[in-house]
Amino acid sequence: MPNWKEKIDKERLPKHIAIIMDGNGRWARKHDKPRVFGHQNGVTAVRNAAEAAAELGVDYLTLYAFSTENWNRPKKEVNALMELLVKTINSETDTLLKNKIKLNSIGDISEMPQDCYDELKIAIDRTADNDRMTLNLALNYSGRWDITQAGRRIAQDVKDGVMNPEDITDEKFNDYLDTTGMPDVELLIRTSGEQRISNFLLWQVAYAELYFTPKLWPEFTKEDLHEAIVNFQCRERRFGKTSEQLTESRKCE
Ligand code: FPP
Repeated sequence: MPNWKEKIDKERLPKHIAIIMDGNGRWARKHDKPRVFGHQNGVTAVRNAAEAAAELGVDYLTLYAFSTENWNRPKKEVNALMELLVKTINSETDTLLKNKIKLNSIGDISEMPQDCYDELKIAIDRTADNDRMTLNLALNYSGRWDITQAGRRIAQDVKDGVMNPEDITDEKFNDYLDTTGMPDVELLIRTSGEQRISNFLLWQVAYAELYFTPKLWPEFTKEDLHEAIVNFQCRERRFGKTSEQLTESRKCE
C-alpha cells in the first residue's frame, strides 16, 4: 500500500473536509451483530479521522453524526445513538483538549435530548479556546433546514429594517448559515459506496470535490483519509474557468 501521508502536499490541504459516515449498519451485519455495534465501532473511526485531520493541519472537519431524517429510525436505535453520543462526547473531551481541537455543532441542537444537549454544551465550552482545528458535529442537521433557517432570519432582518433586500448576496447569505465564519467545504467524503449528498451541507458543497469510497465507516482509517486528500489534490479545480486559465499546477501524474 502506498504511503499516502507522504504524498500529501501540506501547502494545498483542503481547509474544510466534510464526511458522511455511512455503513455502520452494514458493517454490523457483516459481523453478525446488532446495528448499534456498528455505531459503537464507528466511534473509533471518528477518533481516527479527527486525529488525522488535526495532525495534517486541516482547519475544519464536519461530520454528519445525526440528520433530521434519522429521527425516523427505530426508537431503540435512536436512543442508542443518543446514548453513544453523550458517552463519546464526555469521554473524548480530554483528547480534544490534548489535541487542541475545538468542538462545535451545527443543526438544531435545541431539539436533542436534554442530556445530549448539556454534554455537548459542556464540551463546546471546555474546548472553546482551542485553535488547531474545529471539529463540527452535524446533529439534527440537514442542508435544507440550514438554508431555510437562514432565509427565515434574513426575512426577519429585512422586516425589522436591519437589512435591505439588495444586501442579500452570496457572501451575506453565508453569514446566516449554521456554518457562519467557516470556509466552504472543499472535500466531501462518503463511505459505504453510496453516491449521494443526502441533504448534508447543500449550500456549502457548491464547489466541493466529491470522494466516494466503498469502505464502511467503522473500517475507515487514517490512511483512508490521507488517500482521499491525495485524490483531492490530484483533481483540477476549475471553478468555472478553463484548464488553460489555471496557474496552480497539479502535483500528480
Ligand atoms: C450511518 O450508518 C451512521 C450514522 C447515522 C450515525 C453516525 C454515528 C456514529 C459514527 C457514532 C457516533 C458519532 C460521534 C460523532 C460521536 P448507517 O447506520 O446508515 O449504516 P447502514 O447504511 O449500513 O445501515
